[in-house]
Amino acid sequence: MLSADQLAALRRDYRNAVLDERSIADNPLDQLERWLGDAIAANLPEPNAMVLATADDHGAPSARVVLLKGIVEGELHFYTNLESRKAREIALNPQVALLFYWAELERQVRIEGRPRVLDRDTVAAYFATRPRAAQLGAWASRQSTPLESRTQLEEAFERYATQFENSDAIPVPPWWGGYAVRPHAFEFWQGRENRLHDRFRYERTTAGWQRQRLSP
Ligand SMILES: Cc1cc2nc3c(=O)[nH]c(=O)nc-3n(C[C@H](O)[C@H](O)[C@H](O)COP(=O)(O)O)c2cc1C
Repeated sequence: MLSADQLAALRRDYRNAVLDERSIADNPLDQLERWLGDAIAANLPEPNAMVLATADDHGAPSARVVLLKGIVEGELHFYTNLESRKAREIALNPQVALLFYWAELERQVRIEGRPRVLDRDTVAAYFATRPRAAQLGAWASRQSTPLESRTQLEEAFERYATQFENSDAIPVPPWWGGYAVRPHAFEFWQGRENRLHDRFRYERTTAGWQRQRLSP
């Protein structure tokens, strides 16, 4: 059993890097690309994994990991099932938060923004790049709905594999798609010694991005 003391005793001092007014980018999307580039260069596992938080119409939050698949014209793209819990919550309450945490780099990025459903051409172009088995998986999974058993899921996969066995290109399931998130706020956190971390928040204003240093 994990004791409460064991958890309380876990701590780490952060000494890897510095984020300051001289080194940080004026545009937070540039800063995000820099840090994503660092995470990729450091060979971190799934450097593009981000927590996506949504909330229902009562404000009750839920969170899960999704993969960032593109930054296009200042919007962040991810792909998912359009009938999933996250999609239902986005329809009810079109506001999301995104979070990257790269433990090895002692860095966190928090993002707040508004999602829109991606157009079908963009979705189809991305879907075509997915491995065939992942495409079949998208057909087989009615994400977030209950299953009787794992067998039920595997049988659905086999059924679609048979259905599309003579198709060179598997079409996009009608329930599968993606979102583009237009951020209006970013926070970059770099761990520092003595818990005196560097923390910068950007907010989008009519005059462009405004940035301030925040107390950690
Ligand atoms: C590393 C990792 C990457 C994931 N990437 C995605 C993704 O890109 N899209 C997606 O729909 N689910 C992804 N998932 C699964 C989601 O976390 C989640 O279980 C699923 O989307 C259902 O969430 P929902 O019921 O809240 O809609 C990923 C999970 C992990 C752990």
